[in-house]
Amino acid sequence: MKSIISSYDLTREDVEEIFKLASKFVKEQKGDSLRGKTVALAFFEPSTRTYLSFNKAVINLGGNVIGFSGAEGTSVTKGENLADTIRMLDNYSDAIVIRHKFDGAAKLASEVTDKPVINAGDGKHEHPTQTLIDLFTVFNHFGTTDGLIYGLLGDLKYARTVNSFLRMLTRFKPKSVYLISPPQLRPRNEFLEELNYPYKITSNVYDVIEDIDVLYVTRIQKERFLDELEYERIKESYIVDLNLVSKMKKDSIILHPLPRVNEIDRRVDKTAHAKYFEQASYGVPVRMALLEKILGE
Ligand code: CP
Repeated sequence: MKSIISSYDLTREDVEEIFKLASKFVKEQKGDSLRGKTVALAFFEPSTRTYLSFNKAVINLGGNVIGFSGAEGTSVTKGENLADTIRMLDNYSDAIVIRHKFDGAAKLASEVTDKPVINAGDGKHEHPTQTLIDLFTVFNHFGTTDGLIYGLLGDLKYARTVNSFLRMLTRFKPKSVYLISPPQLRPRNEFLEELNYPYKITSNVYDVIEDIDVLYVTRIQKERFLDELEYERIKESYIVDLNLVSKMKKDSIILHPLPRVNEIDRRVDKTAHAKYFEQASYGVPVRMALLEKILGE
């Protein structure tokens, strides 16, 4: 395992190994496998969780962090291109974590450096380390990621977390997956064509909510819409509220990669189904596990 650009860069065995290590790091958030190593965080797009949890993961493993969150303070503002920026980070670090608004930016970065590159979100393409956190939360709750009914709800067209999640599930054995969205926000065909498990596309969450074990909610990705009026028209298509939650199976869970806007009513936070803050807390141990696997001796 070297660069992680897509969920496809991880095998089932890789994921299981990462989960095992992450479980250890949940208990003791310390290690020294990155001592003497420097990780560059190149975040050209806003982030709270991914930036800070990668930062903390490196520190917890005894490594050093350099980088930026927002390109405003960098020479990108003078016109430096992505490839040249990555070449500079190659000089200063042992691995590069990149977030960028363009699909394919992480792949391009991996082509101009021999150092491992980790995709922390590229446009509307992929966000594979978020998927590791998502499935780790599922694994912790159910003891498995197989045999479950997943429901993905919201913006399935632009949410990169959804693409990585759907791709990672091809490594596992979901019982089935419901893809629940307004017709305009259905998953793109290039991702649907790859799926090797049963799935069903629907617009009505109430038709399927009673079946679902894992409800994965996503924000409508305002920043990816070309037409703001279209965003305004569909921005509140789905609200996960107490009425919807009351129809869920007793042991089912709700995930969300966060940030949330208003697609989950705050009153849902107090129910036993709400796992999204726990999910976010796994950002550090899961990313520690991934970094140790990539950079540790
Ligand atoms: N889930 C996620 O990627 O959050 P941030 O945008 O805050 O990093």
